[in-house]
Amino acid sequence: MTRIVPPIRLGVNVDHVATIRNARGGDLPDPVRAAQLACAAGADGITAHLREDRRHIRDSDMRRLREELTVPLNFEMAATDEMVAIALEQRPHAACLVPERREERTTEGGLDVIGGGIDLAHKVEKLGAAGIRVSLFVAPDAEQIARAADIGAAVIELHTGAWCEFLAAGEAHEAEAELGRLVAAAAQGSALGLEIHAGHGLDFATAEVMAAIEPIRELNIGHFLIGESIFVGLEGAVRQMRAAMARGRARIGAPQAA
Ligand code: PXP
Repeated sequence: MTRIVPPIRLGVNVDHVATIRNARGGDLPDPVRAAQLACAAGADGITAHLREDRRHIRDSDMRRLREELTVPLNFEMAATDEMVAIALEQRPHAACLVPERREERTTEGGLDVIGGGIDLAHKVEKLGAAGIRVSLFVAPDAEQIARAADIGAAVIELHTGAWCEFLAAGEAHEAEAELGRLVAAAAQGSALGLEIHAGHGLDFATAEVMAAIEPIRELNIGHFLIGESIFVGLEGAVRQMRAAMARGRARIGAPQAA
């Protein structure tokens, strides 16, 4: 009998198009144009992170992405009152709550869902009640994932950054152990009824491995794709990423070499 493997989506994060724009000031390159191109090349959705310090994406980018895209917009945001108010006004398809510190270069570590307590639970409830699909960006940690389900999140996005860093540093044992934690976390979250996404630091090779984990239904990828687009164009980078993910997905259920 043929096994039906659920598809996996690609969300392209356009933050770093805005980073380049802001390095010079002015309006170019335009992250909305990049988002449209990524969609034409096969992205299923667009992710953008409106940071508290507005270092890349601006409020007007969020508004334009919301108005001009036809694919789902995933609004990455800190769990603050300011960001919740903006999300409630803009009504993106999804909101992914992430930890945020001003001094970090990018999102470091997962959200402390347990430490977020009742305040975080209320924010998840408010966003969910407005019809926004709430995702919590978490490390592959069983207790955090259990709490994410308890407070009513629809989705968890597993933080793949530590795994990618171990691989880049050639720390094979640590990478293997972290990959095991990601696989277990995906299974746990899925069993709890959460939709599973993954992202941070992914490239063609690591996205292929993530796509081979059946419960994972979406990858959100930015930095590598925008960097690669310098060499092969954004369309080329997105197409190659889709091909890598398709190779990974095809491994599910396929006989393994002895
Ligand atoms: N997912 C989340 C929740 C993130 O915070 C980020 C970084 O903004 C990404 C995915 C994309 O990570 P990268 O830019 O390393 O591909």
